[in-house]
Amino acid sequence: MMTPRYAHLMSANCSAVLELSDHEAPLWRYWGPRLPDDALPGFGLRAMRATPTFSLEDDFPLSLFPTFGVGWFGTSALLAHREGRDFAQAFTACDVIWRTPGQALTVRLTDRVTDLMVEIDLALDAGSDVLTLSTRLTNTGLDVLDVQWLAGAVLPLPARSARVRHYGGRHNSEFLLQEEPLARGIWRQENRRGLTSHDAFPGAVVVPLGCDAHAGLAYGAQLAWSGNHTQVIEWLEDGRFQWQLGEWLAPGEVRLARGECLETPQVLATCSMAGLNGVAAGFHKAVRARMTWPRDAMSPRPVGLNTWEGVYFDLDPAVLMQMADAAAKAGIERFVLDDGWFQGRRSDRAGLGDWWTDPDVFPEGLAPLARHVNDLGMAFGLWIEPEMVNPDSDLFRSHPDWALQIAGRPLLTARNQLVLDLTRPEVTAYLLDRLGALLDALPVSCLKWDHNRALTTAGSRGHAAYRRQTLAAYDLMDQIRSRWPDVEIEACAGGGGRIDAGILQHTHRVWTSDCIDAVSRVAIQRGFLQFFPPEIMGAHVGASPAHSTGRSQSLDFRAAVALPGHFGVELDLRHLTTGEAADLTGWIELYRSLRDRLHQGQVWLGEAGDSILWQAHGHKDDLLVLVYRMAPMTWKWPPTLILPMVDPDQTYRVEEVGPRPLSGGAPAPVFADYRSGSLEIHGAWLARQGLPLPPGKAETCLIYQISRVDPGV
Ligand code: GLA
Repeated sequence: MMTPRYAHLMSANCSAVLELSDHEAPLWRYWGPRLPDDALPGFGLRAMRATPTFSLEDDFPLSLFPTFGVGWFGTSALLAHREGRDFAQAFTACDVIWRTPGQALTVRLTDRVTDLMVEIDLALDAGSDVLTLSTRLTNTGLDVLDVQWLAGAVLPLPARSARVRHYGGRHNSEFLLQEEPLARGIWRQENRRGLTSHDAFPGAVVVPLGCDAHAGLAYGAQLAWSGNHTQVIEWLEDGRFQWQLGEWLAPGEVRLARGECLETPQVLATCSMAGLNGVAAGFHKAVRARMTWPRDAMSPRPVGLNTWEGVYFDLDPAVLMQMADAAAKAGIERFVLDDGWFQGRRSDRAGLGDWWTDPDVFPEGLAPLARHVNDLGMAFGLWIEPEMVNPDSDLFRSHPDWALQIAGRPLLTARNQLVLDLTRPEVTAYLLDRLGALLDALPVSCLKWDHNRALTTAGSRGHAAYRRQTLAAYDLMDQIRSRWPDVEIEACAGGGGRIDAGILQHTHRVWTSDCIDAVSRVAIQRGFLQFFPPEIMGAHVGASPAHSTGRSQSLDFRAAVALPGHFGVELDLRHLTTGEAADLTGWIELYRSLRDRLHQGQVWLGEAGDSILWQAHGHKDDLLVLVYRMAPMTWKWPPTLILPMVDPDQTYRVEEVGPRPLSGGAPAPVFADYRSGSLEIHGAWLARQGLPLPPGKAETCLIYQISRVDPGV
């Protein structure tokens, strides 16, 4: 029996093992918790697979790049042809090039029959345990290759994988958890909306039965891409599952001429024995490492005021200046002027495309407002939606051909707007010129970059342009960032319609949802935090009743729900009572004092029972724990808060924090000690029996700082 050759990628807690051969794509042997270096078996995969009845004599197990028509009956990593020929590809030569020993390699595969080359980059990051994969297909043949599908990654999942947790919803309800059983068949998700979408986040988490938030082997993957996508989880005949993620391609969208190549978006994938929170921890580290910041480091996330829900389109420079005065007084650090400031934009029916200040609304331009904001010590931000055009705009009247369209088909509007064809150089040149004039003239520190509709009839010169449009949008953002390197960009698409690890390589935060109702936000934010770190999660205190739902919550609850994210305010501060303004100021102060701790380290999400949801931020020795009571108590006494992450050999001090006592007095003696910070409790007790919680009303929050007592102090 031949001892196999392996590629073993290793990180602190994970291993990925491929069985290598010169004549085929590497076989997936393992992806899971870290193996010792010498644990790899001396027998090849085929040595343990007898030929079943009624089967091919050749055995084709799951590889890094399984292909159709040559003995593999599962979903193919590639679907392509040349005018109907070369429909079955088999990659029969394989080179493995290590880029970083034990951590990063490129697998180069060739098929001399169909004249194709595939290069797969794999890297397992030592610190985050995240595997990054992408695939490049090159047409080395003479004739054009039509590509229907190219997987960015093919991942193996163990046989005991039982459920897929995926996330989606609609405008105002993003990231809602959907949990479905995996069965002997295919779980498939496709998004054809041309941007990441509200309804189908391009990623998921797969768990065996019994895996929970804190323990059990969980797998996660997400596609770093802001366009169409497909993900497939398919049962295989050896009981494992394969998970493919990649870009959904429209018919004819990718046709490779000789020498041309198609490179997929990257897939980020991780696994953890620490359950759902372990997967989140890996993703948070990886996403943080991929982001780039002005001056190379994230500054403490400034408290923002966004004008949208405060005044909508009803913009008046004098009123905006008063709002800025009130904002500065409350401790706000960034003032973002939302929609409505540019030519003809009195409602959502007109103006998109005409990116100059409307003189009817701002006779002296935006400079006096921006100056006023700066003089108050705040940064100035501006809303734009560059990829869009209203038919009722000067731009569309002069360039109707600049919208994505299909000749002979009607232009389908959504929110009264069309999508500009960014693949045309004259369109991006126009946008750079108009936006550049604004950025040169005004002290803009951040752009809220919106995208308020899905793509449809997205044709450019007769061909589907979804993919090229996404790449062109990235490029436009990059050009703006390279010319104005201090400008931050917030990605928004009717709230959270464009949140993914791809857009986050070009932007600095996202507007998580247009729904600011704090009760709805708890679920949305928990879905978000499965994949992304809290500091980029735009989270605002809105008005009560909430505009999106009509529900009312106290200011304390609204602020406590926004607190762990990139905190901001989105209401007209001028209408707050003196008491409300003082309370809000207190929350802003609290956020400013806690943000450095909320925005680094890990996030753990948990459920205590009886409608108590909690989240802890920081490190196991120093935690900020937010405890949300979502519904009225149905138990006579509240559950205890079990914190599995603390060190069971240490002692911790518990202190309630908040702008003022939030527990409504001390209903039992121990809670008075939380307020004074005099309670010490053993880590083992916290981890196993839990912290006592006071009774409370529905839609309230308590915040605790739980820090290890240093025995030397
Ligand atoms: C979208 C955004 C909102 C706001 C409006 C402005 O809906 O999500 O926050 O900016 O556009 O038109």
